[in-house]
Amino acid sequence: MKILGIIGDPVSHSLSPIMQNAALRKMKLPYLYLPFHVTPKNLAAFFQMVKSRRGVRWGASEIIGFNVTVPHKEKALRYLDRISPEAQAMGAVNTVVRKGNRLVGYNTDAQGFLRSLKELARFHPRGKKILILGAGGAARAVLWSVASAGAKEIILCNRTPSKVGKVVRPFRRRFRRVLIQTVPLTHRMLSAVFPKIDLLVNATSVGLKGTRFRGLPLSKLRKGTLVSDLVYRPIQTPLLKEAAQKGLLVHPGWGMLLFQGAESFRLWTGRKPEIAVIKKALLDALR
Ligand code: ATR
Repeated sequence: MKILGIIGDPVSHSLSPIMQNAALRKMKLPYLYLPFHVTPKNLAAFFQMVKSRRGVRWGASEIIGFNVTVPHKEKALRYLDRISPEAQAMGAVNTVVRKGNRLVGYNTDAQGFLRSLKELARFHPRGKKILILGAGGAARAVLWSVASAGAKEIILCNRTPSKVGKVVRPFRRRFRRVLIQTVPLTHRMLSAVFPKIDLLVNATSVGLKGTRFRGLPLSKLRKGTLVSDLVYRPIQTPLLKEAAQKGLLVHPGWGMLLFQGAESFRLWTGRKPEIAVIKKALLDALR
C-alpha cells in the first residue's frame, strides 16, 4: 500500500480524501489518501520526515506524494528539491511528488481551473477579456491559467489596491502579449468595466460562510458573459445565484477543485482518474 495525502491547518474539512480515495478505489490502485494535520510549526519537520529514509514509510507503507493546502502553499516551496515553472510563477505549490529521495512541487490549480472552464462551461480564454476579483493565491492561479491560455486582456481588481501591483508584475513580464491591468474595487470602476468583459471570476473569499458582495453591478454585464465563483461552499453561492437569476452563464467553484485533484492524481499514479467518479464523490459530499 502506498500513501498519499494532504497537509493543511485545518485539514479535516478537506474534500480531497473523499475525491481521491473514490478514484483510487474505482481503479483498484493500491494507494490510500489521508489527511495530515500539519501546523506551521510542524511544517519543516513534516518535510524532513517524508524525505528521511525512515520517514518515507508510514507504518509499512510509503508516502509517495501529497497535496498542500492553506496555510502552507507558499512556505512549502522552500522544502522542495525541484519546482515546476507554474508553481514557481505562482509562488505556491499544491502538489508534491516524491521521486526517489527528491521532492518535486507542482501547482495543478491553474490547469484545474482551465480544464473546468472548458469542460463545464465550454469557455476558452483565447482572445477574451477577463476580470478577476481578488489578489491572493487563488487569484494568481486564475491569472496564470487564463494568461497562459491566450486571454487578450486581464483586469485584476482587489479590495486592497496596494496588493495587486506585486501580483501582476511577474505576470506582465512573462506574458508580454496579454494586456494585464488593475482597477480599484469600486462600484464606479466595475460599472465601467463590466460591459466589456467575457468572464468575471470571483477569486476572493466573499461567498464563504454566508458573506456576499454588496452592489456588484451584475446588470452591466453583457448577455452571454460567464460568471465564475471559486467559492464552492455553498455550491450555489449568492453571486452565482444572482448571476443565474439575471440570465448570465455560471461556472461553479467545485470545478477547479475537481480538475486540480484529477491532475494531482495523474502526477502521482501516472493514470488518469475517472472524472465521473470523482465528481460524484465530491458533489455527494458537498450536498
Ligand atoms: P487565497 O489564497 O485563497 O486567495 P487570500 O490570500 O487570503 O486567500 O486572499 C483572499 C482574497 O479575498 C483577497 O484578495 C482579499 O482582499 P484583500 O487583499 O483586500 O484582503 C479578498 N477578500 C476577502 N474578504 C473580502 C471582502 N469582504 N471584500 C472584498 N474582498 C475580500
